[in-house]
Amino acid sequence: MNKPLDLPILSAAQPQVGVSRSHESAHLHVSGEASYVDDIAEAQGTLHAALGLSPLAHGRLLAIDIALIKRQPGVVAVLTAADFPGENNCGPLLHDDPILAADTLSYLGQPVFAVIATDRELARRAAALAKTAIQAEPWPALLTAREAHAAGHYVIPPMHLTRGEPAQALAAAPHRLAGEWAVGGQEQFYLEGQISYALPQEDRGLLVHCSTQHPSEMQQLLAHALGWSAHQVQVQCRRMGGGFGGKESQSAVFACVAALAATKLRRPVKLRVDRDDDFMITGRRHGFDYRWQVGYDDDGHIVAAEIDLISNCGHSADLSAPVMARALCHFDNAYWLPHVAMHGYCAKTNTQSNTAFRGFGGPQGALAIEMILDSVARRLGLDPLVVRQRNFYRDGQDVTPYGQRVEDNIILPLTDRLIATSDYHARRAEITAFNAHSPVLKKGLALTPVKFGISFNVVHLNQAGALVHVYTDGSVLVNHGGTEMGQGLNTKVAQVVAHELGLSLARVRASATDTHKIANTSATAASTGSDLNGKAAQDAARKIKSRLAALAAQLLDCPEDELRFGGDQVLAGTGRSIAFTELVSKAYLERIQLWSDGFYTTPGLHWDRAKLQGKPFYYYAYGAAVSEVLVDTLTGESRVLRADALHDVGQSLNPALDIGQVEGAFVQGMGWLTTEDLVWHPKTGALLTHAPSTYKIPTANDMPADFRVALFDAPNREDSIHRSKAVGEPPLLLPFSVLLAIKDAIASTGPASCDPHLRAPATAEAVLSALDAIQPTARVG
Ligand code: MTE
Ligand code: HPA
Ligand code: MOS
Repeated sequence: MNKPLDLPILSAAQPQVGVSRSHESAHLHVSGEASYVDDIAEAQGTLHAALGLSPLAHGRLLAIDIALIKRQPGVVAVLTAADFPGENNCGPLLHDDPILAADTLSYLGQPVFAVIATDRELARRAAALAKTAIQAEPWPALLTAREAHAAGHYVIPPMHLTRGEPAQALAAAPHRLAGEWAVGGQEQFYLEGQISYALPQEDRGLLVHCSTQHPSEMQQLLAHALGWSAHQVQVQCRRMGGGFGGKESQSAVFACVAALAATKLRRPVKLRVDRDDDFMITGRRHGFDYRWQVGYDDDGHIVAAEIDLISNCGHSADLSAPVMARALCHFDNAYWLPHVAMHGYCAKTNTQSNTAFRGFGGPQGALAIEMILDSVARRLGLDPLVVRQRNFYRDGQDVTPYGQRVEDNIILPLTDRLIATSDYHARRAEITAFNAHSPVLKKGLALTPVKFGISFNVVHLNQAGALVHVYTDGSVLVNHGGTEMGQGLNTKVAQVVAHELGLSLARVRASATDTHKIANTSATAASTGSDLNGKAAQDAARKIKSRLAALAAQLLDCPEDELRFGGDQVLAGTGRSIAFTELVSKAYLERIQLWSDGFYTTPGLHWDRAKLQGKPFYYYAYGAAVSEVLVDTLTGESRVLRADALHDVGQSLNPALDIGQVEGAFVQGMGWLTTEDLVWHPKTGALLTHAPSTYKIPTANDMPADFRVALFDAPNREDSIHRSKAVGEPPLLLPFSVLLAIKDAIASTGPASCDPHLRAPATAEAVLSALDAIQPTARVG
């Protein structure tokens, strides 16, 4: 038994949650020791796969000259659709996505065959002969969402969400405005490209190391493709070098091909795609087209809105249905829309199949209303901020179009605080004065709010499991169903476990995600990783804690409810204590179970998918940002001079990680809306922007020169893990303020109440054409 505790030790028992801790792998990231799939030492006899891609956007596959490919140096095998013993499908919801094209070629870049060779370079060289080896009859292709929509060509039936009497309310509105607008897609551009490494195991088993956000779905899809049972397949992921939604479903094609080759050839097979191929094969954020009508009063209150949202889904459904559902559920953003009709059309085109990307349709929904409100304000000659504030949800006007009451609304106090801390009004005046004397360089300012629904919008996905092992030396291993992609999930879950057991964080280690440990997991997505897995791990830790407490109560002669776990000890109210390690080794000798599972499901969710009504979200995360930009009206170039973001993460589990997430999401969203322009060849359907030479993601140089990110520290009203809120996706919407500040700068060059048409991304070309449209003669050159 330990000596009685004195006060200094008690105060050393610091909480492990709510404090900044560095990322569990930070030291490995910076030293290059963090292991990614391609760093795993290759097993003897490892072969390498590469994919032969469709040279056509649409057509009938007539023949593949397999003999030609097989003759190439180093080639061991060539596999096609016919080689799958099970189902040739990697579509997550509908079975409409062949792993390798069978009869029809659906987009330029679609995998048609796989080459397996002795090394990666030889496999790639042989696969590059696809253009010669594939014989196909070309068919007309639909390359844009507009064309597909006009042809009524969809991956799923249209979705409609209506409240009130929008047609009548529009007709009766004091003012009406209609418009069309579009926003482009976005490449996830994870630093680690898609990769899978499949290793045959004894007795028809398979181990697959896969860079994926969704190990369980990889296990399931590749078991189906092989005609195997799930228990034969083990999928592991220690970490990803970024996923951003791009590895939620679309890691599957690579996992399935590697698995097929490994099981056919009984050799380990690795498939690591090159960046250009990754661009050509996988989908990305859905670009959206909008057609809208809005009715409003003299003060800028929206009385009615009707909007068509047309998403470019590409050739298959993938996750396009839940993406559209989330877009429809975010068109309201932070605003009360009394009468509203939304029509979601999921256009089927002959391009890559678009998929999850941070925000999952939410950004595309909310951006539409922000652009509309900006136009309304400009027509009325009001500061857009005022029109936003007037339309915010408030008591009595707090039911969303999909029927969920907004019970935790903090958008008013949050924006008020940001207006004050960012000095919005004084800077608005300064900018007006600056622009009056600056003919070429123009400044713009905008504040935009965010309200983002947290939970998977498919109810059953909101579940998670965890395993906590306490070893006899007092060290702890936690395994949960979530995956680590840089966001810091493992760190947060380890903090939760350390906190629960009263241990220092160094005692707790998180291990690789593994389908042999936690079964039937959901993707780490919808920003729910720490909400779900944190709770599951807490549940597991609490079970162990209560067993330990029963023993400690005996040993310390103290009632269980007067024990405290803290500072690597268990403390009794009497002042006696026992070291955690000692307690654990005693528990072992007493044959007490020192490990446990944990499970969690989000309470209170219900959702009618057909009616688009219910309570899809456990709570909302809020935020707002003010951006100030400088636009060169001669070149169209712009940059962010200052950005202030105030973001709601509830009671933060780890402020350092959360601020990192807000900064990262802000810059990533800014890239989407300013420089990341995707261009497909209008005739062939070839993606022309398939490398960083032509596709411009933001770099450190594009960070706002003055970047002030703060957390709005208020506990979640719901009983989330330590009252925190999810942070991964919501801040991606903060840089709407950058796009609207650029529009504000452009508007300053035109007459009062002019409303420039600025497309997104607001590249230099887009800015110039918006400037041209408002003052065709004013510019030189
Ligand atoms: N942060 C990093 N560093 N890398 C990523 O790939 N993905 C984002 C976000 N933040 C991502 C990231 C996306 S799309 C989601 S849904 C969440 O992290 C997922 O993790 P979480 O649920 O643990 O927040
Ligand atoms: N986010 C991410 N993935 C999903 C979702 C979501 O809301 N719903 C279904 N899959
Ligand atoms: Mo995130 S788009 O839900 O992976």
